[in-house]
Amino acid sequence: MNTVAFFNNKGGVGKTSLVYHLAWSFSDMGIPVLAVDLDPQANLTAMFLEDERLEDIWPDVEDHPSTIYGAVRPILRGTGDIASLDMEPITPKLGLIPGDLRLSTFEDKLSDAWPRCHNDDEAAFRAMTAFHRLMEQAASGFAELILIDVGPNLGAINRAALIAAEYVCLPLAPDLYSLQGLRNLGPALTSWRKTWDSLKPRARELSMPSGKMVPRATL
Ligand SMILES: Nc1ncnc2c1ncn2[C@@H]1O[C@H](COP(=O)(O)OP(=O)(O)OP(=O)(O)O)[C@@H](O)[C@H]1O
Ligand SMILES: [Mg+2]
Repeated sequence: MNTVAFFNNKGGVGKTSLVYHLAWSFSDMGIPVLAVDLDPQANLTAMFLEDERLEDIWPDVEDHPSTIYGAVRPILRGTGDIASLDMEPITPKLGLIPGDLRLSTFEDKLSDAWPRCHNDDEAAFRAMTAFHRLMEQAASGFAELILIDVGPNLGAINRAALIAAEYVCLPLAPDLYSLQGLRNLGPALTSWRKTWDSLKPRARELSMPSGKMVPRATL
């Protein structure tokens, strides 16, 4: 399984557009693709789904069982592990895990979980690996390629998303800000990878993401 995250802490460089168009392109070529929206702005979801469907999956009530937020909500509330989540079928070869503006409420939980993994805290490992395990379940028996869209920051949601990625693609705009941003990205990814390597062996029973985050120019 190829899992690729599109990441840059500089905003507006084309991450979401690339995930959207590559998902269509690869699925048109016959490769089953799971697109995953882990950006709380949820732009990728809005590109894939009609407004009527968005109203269905983002109701005013708390549950949101059809989105990534609904799936991690039991962890957020401390009532259990990830809930099952059906991917949104776009075509027979293309599925979507819908994003959610409410996913931003998971940021503090993940921020807190990272240091607690050092204490072999199983609940912390459940939180840190929630995205990986959800994608693994949704892709099982279906996708050969997982494309992940994330928001433009170096926060805790993105750290959990990136350790779930075997490969990372860094879209860049040809400007000074993007070059400055690159200087933050390398050390951040190296530090996340190194820390996750040391934490991985501490977890028991759970499926652990590799956390390889290999930079990739081509898929
Ligand atoms: N290759 C491209 N050439 C020109 N414009 C583009 C290209 N890719 C994306 N855009 C435009 O740039 C804007 C930002 O694109 P997009 O939302 O994909 O970026 P993003 O990196 O996901 O942004 P964010 O960091 O806010 O999530 C959009 O208006 C999009 O249509
Ligand atoms: Mg985006």
